[in-house]
Amino acid sequence: MKLIIDTAEKVAALAADRYTALLDQKPDAVLGLATGSTPLGLYAELVRRCKAGQISFGRVTTFNLDEYVGLDAAHDQSYRYFMNTNLFDQVDIRKDATHVPSGLDTSAAAASAYDEAIKAAGGIDIQLLGIGNNGHLGFNEPGTPFGSTTLVVELTDSTRQAYKRFFASLDQVPTHAVTMGLKTIMNARCIILMALGTAKAEIVKKMVSGDVTPLVPASVLQLHPNVEVYLDH
Ligand code: F6R
Repeated sequence: MKLIIDTAEKVAALAADRYTALLDQKPDAVLGLATGSTPLGLYAELVRRCKAGQISFGRVTTFNLDEYVGLDAAHDQSYRYFMNTNLFDQVDIRKDATHVPSGLDTSAAAASAYDEAIKAAGGIDIQLLGIGNNGHLGFNEPGTPFGSTTLVVELTDSTRQAYKRFFASLDQVPTHAVTMGLKTIMNARCIILMALGTAKAEIVKKMVSGDVTPLVPASVLQLHPNVEVYLDH
């Protein structure tokens, strides 16, 4: 694992440099994307570079990590809505090349079709990740087997509490989500994980140097050969 530690602004720019280099070298790259507060600085920087003509998403394909069960694309807390607003609608990407799991189709067939679509696209070049306070990756909560592929999961109380800030009240936070599995994530050729703020410090330490255990899902990244972790001080 390579650790890059600087200010939040600088690590967003350094992570954006990685995407710039990838898209220079491979304009039809496949990107695994994340939502949440952490990647907002990176997305803003990618939008800025695209508007300045420094990068193009014109041939890129994307797969997002996860989506809430029960929320459709028009819901302002759905992850499809988040991605459209914070990235896709502001860059030159082809919308039909962007994929977010459906929160409305929770069938096993839809889950395996998502994994198959990633494979058919050639696999993910860079998977972007945040980390939950409990160590979740995507919505793979503690206890999820490392071999999991895309699946429907029940969100823990701690995750629902953490995400309450985006909803009017706790009971409006969905109870389930569809998420890429840990194996799906680990299949990416490169992983960029970003974590900002003191609240993430303890779990980042466990991820980087604690036991590799499903009780800390992010610890599985110690087993991946190509992980970059972007942190603020
Ligand atoms: C988002 C996702 C989650 C978040 C994590 C951190 O697509 O899969 O794992 O990355 O919950 O969220 P923030 O960045 O809001 O602290």
